[in-house]
Amino acid sequence: MNPQTLSAKMTLQTKNIFEDIKKLKAEKNAIILAHYYQEGDIQDVADYIGDSLGLSQQAAQTNADIIVFAGVHFMAETAKILCPDKKVLIPDLKAGCSLADSCPPLAFKKFKDEHPHHLVISYINCTAEIKALTDIVCTSSNAVQIVNSIPKDQPIIFAPDKNLGRYVNKVTGRNMLLWDGSCMVHEIFSAKKISLLKHTHPRALLIAHPECEEPVLDQAEFIGSTTALLNFVIKSEHQEFIVATETGILHEMAKRAPGKTLIPAPPENNCACNDCPHMKLNTLEKLYACLRDEKPEIIIEPSLIKQAEKSIKKMLEISAQLGL
Ligand code: 13P
Ligand code: SF4
Repeated sequence: MNPQTLSAKMTLQTKNIFEDIKKLKAEKNAIILAHYYQEGDIQDVADYIGDSLGLSQQAAQTNADIIVFAGVHFMAETAKILCPDKKVLIPDLKAGCSLADSCPPLAFKKFKDEHPHHLVISYINCTAEIKALTDIVCTSSNAVQIVNSIPKDQPIIFAPDKNLGRYVNKVTGRNMLLWDGSCMVHEIFSAKKISLLKHTHPRALLIAHPECEEPVLDQAEFIGSTTALLNFVIKSEHQEFIVATETGILHEMAKRAPGKTLIPAPPENNCACNDCPHMKLNTLEKLYACLRDEKPEIIIEPSLIKQAEKSIKKMLEISAQLGL
């Protein structure tokens, strides 16, 4: 088959799969929630695209019977905890998260027991078991505000991301005890290559996710969650941006800020390591199959749901009070 015929066939297949997904969604009263790190086609078929905070807020308020969560496991798990009576599906059950994996529940429980007077604030990128050991969950959108809502003399453990924790300590002037976890994607950016790139693109602003390491954040003109980075690019009068986060965000940025130049921040090696391998396990084909077959489904023990829901609901409550 010549390349043109092949490409026409693929366009037709993609069009059909989009229509089939739309039909299934209507038949089953399903909603598709997708994170900005998903592949472009998945973002295009989603009912809502957002960051972790926006996605959990959407999950908490949906009337759909089925939630297809195009993201990683901890995100779909959070949706299930918030909506225990709904069916929550994920296109690939193996879509995990290196940051969530860096905080095993038994080790964390021991750490927590060693600091009995500390309040536990955990970044949403953790398992349900860690959420059950947590007082308040936060996301990269509201971490600073959640920490600021706690009296200054209250000692805090922050888990699992040490980079986000260090950044929040710096902004709030706190001295939270940090769990030593990190994200494999956000730790791969090269501060040296970024500074060279800034030199060759003097008008470009560096915008970075707070999961990046300190030498990258120190060079950033703006730091924020994926939604905050997107809004910054849309609203900014600048035309050129070096983007230090997972590359999936570039899809929506290019759509919402057409004409602006978006340069993915360079990783240490010449690899595609700034693509999250876990997020990218989900594909449009798997999403279609999961909606059709209603599996794989997220199943959590009801007792674990009960223990984990308090810390997530507390975050949603504080976020609503603060208008976030
Ligand atoms: P957001 O809070 O920006 O959605 O980030 C989630 C995430 O997994 C970053 O790696
Ligand atoms: Fe986890 Fe990092 Fe992937 Fe986000 S980018 S889902 S923190 S591994």
